Amino acid sequence: MRIDQKSFSKRLINWYLHNKRELPWRETTDPYFIWLSEIILQQTRVEQGLPYYLNFADKYPTVFDLANAPEVEVLRMWQGLGYYSRARNLHACAKQVVEEYNGKFPADFNKLKSLKGIGEYTASAIGSFAFGLPTPVLDGNVFRVIARLFGINDDIANPKSKKSFYEVLDQLIPESDPGNFNQGMMEFGATHCTPKNPNCESCIFSTECIANQTNQQNQLPVKLKKVKVRKRTFNYLVVLSEQGVYMKQRGPKDIWEGLFDFPLLESETFSLESALKKEQLTNLVLLDQSEPYKHILTHQRINAMFWVVQLSDFGPFEEILGDMKAYNENEMLNLPKPKLVDNYLKEHFFSLHLI
Ligand code: ADE
Repeated sequence: MRIDQKSFSKRLINWYLHNKRELPWRETTDPYFIWLSEIILQQTRVEQGLPYYLNFADKYPTVFDLANAPEVEVLRMWQGLGYYSRARNLHACAKQVVEEYNGKFPADFNKLKSLKGIGEYTASAIGSFAFGLPTPVLDGNVFRVIARLFGINDDIANPKSKKSFYEVLDQLIPESDPGNFNQGMMEFGATHCTPKNPNCESCIFSTECIANQTNQQNQLPVKLKKVKVRKRTFNYLVVLSEQGVYMKQRGPKDIWEGLFDFPLLESETFSLESALKKEQLTNLVLLDQSEPYKHILTHQRINAMFWVVQLSDFGPFEEILGDMKAYNENEMLNLPKPKLVDNYLKEHFFSLHLI
């Protein structure tokens, strides 16, 4: 690490004490008010949350007042902030603190975290601001500051990346003043090391900051968009005939373009019957059913079942087979196929008795 721990936390806390916004929850170490502010400020900007904090603190000056309030009143006070489960959790947590801890918030990270509506971030915030516990907070602002200062390019949208950020923070946070360190990290991210146009010219870390030195302010932190995974259920029809097994070459704009697979009926769940009904297909006799096959692609999770069938007579099914051809064993083995189909054939080919 290029930044010395002592010098870093000293300069950060010094910056914080000279540049911080004056906010009422920063003037207290009472865990009740700190908890109240942190719950209100989740997913809420300071300007929007401030009047709510003042109203709650005024109406419910102790955790007992909040615990004893009717829930409808608490929800009414919360009106306009959104995410009403936060208000219900707030009320439930106040009751929990009264009933389980005699109205005193516990000075222990794990006990705090086990309370209603308190997660890792909030437990660390209360722990450090109220009780001086050396538990670092990691919110969006802190992710950005650390990613830029240390040139960390792990994807912050991936929960596994937290580990490398906590490793850095665990080394930086001073036992002597963890509260102001955490407030300082968040405030520095919120007002100085901002997402757009960070103020690098007058930054106390400009000579050490990797992002500033390598001009990567706009690239860090890395936050990749989540890919939506589509779940699909395939009913593959392995249609046996005298000429062989029917296969179809997949067309353009398809992930399997040019590869050969079987007639395919997609459905919500595995069910040959309902898939056939949906397509109004009747003239099939079921001979065998495979075990389910899983196939994982970047954007899709496919569950496939192979239904071995035979045509009972000429009928509507012919239409589906219209642009397909029946292939004999040798031809079928030599055709290019999706891995999923190839896996099935490898395991089942010799038990497919062509008629
Ligand atoms: N957002 C969440 N917690 C905060 C705090 N303690 N100060 C300012 N903004 C915050």
